[in-house]
Amino acid sequence: MKRIKTLSEYFKKYELSEKDPEKFWSEIAYSFIWKKKWDNVLESDFENADFKWFKNAQLNITENIFERNLSERGDKTAIIWEPNDPKESPIYMSYKELYKQTCTFSNALKSKGIKKGDRVIIYMPMVPEAAIAMLACARVGAVHSVVFAGFSAASLADRINDCEAKMVLTSDGNFRGNKTIPVKDVVDEALEKCSSIESVIVLERTKQNINIKDGRDFWWHECIEDESNICDSEVMDSEDLLFILYTSGSTGKPKGVVHSSAGYMVYSSYTFLNVFQYDEEDIYWCTADVGWITGHSYIVYGPLLCGATTVMFEGVPTYPNVSRFWDIVDKYKINQFYTAPTAIRALQAHGLEPLKNNSLDSLKVIGSVGEPINEEAWHWYHDNVGKGKCPLVDTWWQTETGGIMISALAGITPNKPAHASLPLPGIMPVIVDADGNELNGNNVQGNLCIKSPWPSIIRTTYGDHERCINTYFSNYKGMYFTGDGVKRDHDGYLRILGRVDDVINVSGHRMGTAEVENAINEHEDVIESAVVGYPHDIKGEGIYAYVIVGTKLNDDKIKDEIINVVRKVIGPIAKPDKIQIVSGLPKTRSGKIMRRILRKVASNDFQNLGDTSTLLNPDIVTEIIDGAII
Ligand code: WT7
Repeated sequence: MKRIKTLSEYFKKYELSEKDPEKFWSEIAYSFIWKKKWDNVLESDFENADFKWFKNAQLNITENIFERNLSERGDKTAIIWEPNDPKESPIYMSYKELYKQTCTFSNALKSKGIKKGDRVIIYMPMVPEAAIAMLACARVGAVHSVVFAGFSAASLADRINDCEAKMVLTSDGNFRGNKTIPVKDVVDEALEKCSSIESVIVLERTKQNINIKDGRDFWWHECIEDESNICDSEVMDSEDLLFILYTSGSTGKPKGVVHSSAGYMVYSSYTFLNVFQYDEEDIYWCTADVGWITGHSYIVYGPLLCGATTVMFEGVPTYPNVSRFWDIVDKYKINQFYTAPTAIRALQAHGLEPLKNNSLDSLKVIGSVGEPINEEAWHWYHDNVGKGKCPLVDTWWQTETGGIMISALAGITPNKPAHASLPLPGIMPVIVDADGNELNGNNVQGNLCIKSPWPSIIRTTYGDHERCINTYFSNYKGMYFTGDGVKRDHDGYLRILGRVDDVINVSGHRMGTAEVENAINEHEDVIESAVVGYPHDIKGEGIYAYVIVGTKLNDDKIKDEIINVVRKVIGPIAKPDKIQIVSGLPKTRSGKIMRRILRKVASNDFQNLGDTSTLLNPDIVTEIIDGAII
């Protein structure tokens, strides 16, 4: 695959992708190994959310990671693994070694009865085996669903049940900073509520005591003992499922976003190469967890498809101290560094001291993902980490898009602070107003939609295609609706403004307000609750909960209990930052909560609350303002 090298080339490719998308994408697709070539590049039906890319082609994504790279890059390091504890030895795993381990584990999966199409849950720490688990699933045609290991037993059980998974891959425990997390216990608790799981494979990591249920639980090292390291890759149709990844929406339970084999392969690798401008000898590091889409596309699949060296970090940015990220950059001479604004703001809060012993000279490109990056954080990152010389790519995309959609190409697109900037070739963003009118030209602001399909567009929400159509393809006819607001400035550069729906983005993690409310309402003393986001200096957005309780407990006690319920139902990442106990919520005569008012109060903006005359209970607004937590 050739990468774009100049701005004029970018514009040329963009134009081609607009005029003749099929030619544009097939030229890229030719650089992969296909077991059988496609009949049609694209069949697309927005109304029914039915997209077929590279129709009737056959492939296996791992053949394109391994067989395609091995002859040239067999001895090249595929994964560098940096453990939680910097005193523990890192692992350098070559493409050849990763291939062998993937094949061995693929055979272990088969021996446990895993077949093409079966769903396998991965609930693991950030260790090479997590990537091996994903790749082995892909090799045998099983559909992986990685669940971030910070989610609670209840959340894990929901995901297992939703996709009727047959197997869970996990570890005895996870190291995270100075904590050890008993993940196997969480799996055991989850499985009390699941009937589809036949087996659990447990990687030994922390060596802590765990229960092994006979006939169900097996040790990873025992499973691979007698397996061969050769395993033919399963023949996958281009539209066969590659993975399911659960993400939160504005209503109900998290949905299983489905990505399919061929389109995802083409798009994740194309975007990796072009956005980060990866060169053959470069060492690339994305700090995400494989539990999120960023980890899927830009730790595992994108880089490995391109034959890159990708770093996997098990720990957290603050352990053993706040220089950890910068120590790792220097230790491995990282060339491309990709992280989230939350991490940048958290490290920025410690000043420049933690950076003073690091040279960071190796860096060529720095990236940002997951939430809008404010100008202050942008400049701090650009000046102090990139030393003013590294292009900063602010990459906008979503779980549903599979890969980066709007971003500068490093060193090619002029940098503009806090602007994701320009769409990648093949991506046709449009700005629409509330009535669905396209707002053309510059200096316009509205909702962000995408008007033509790209190879890794969401295929369905697992088990509920109607939900996929309703969420993404029915607000605006003939377009994919992102849920984000956007502004096109006077130069035509795009700036993402954040969610326009009831989704909160906390530290780059997506939370549905309804989901958090449902969790809070599980507390027996809670009568009703309403959750909104508010601006938070570090996390981007914090979670503010208004709760009506019928309890004799004092406020502090009930607040603690509510936080515990949320931890149990969703996980620590969803716990409210602020809880205000109220006697009522502002409701319209039709019983709808007026969230606009709650958002303003949570943001400390008590003026301009707008028209409150339609409220059933206007007096409640005064009470809420008086009790607001600042
Ligand atoms: C939502 C998607 C994409 C991987 C990580 C998050 C927000 C993402 C940016 C950015 C402003 C961003 C959007 C989007 N978002 N990247 N560069 N600038 N906002 O994936 O959990 O699916 O969340 O994250 O609001 O809709 P996700």
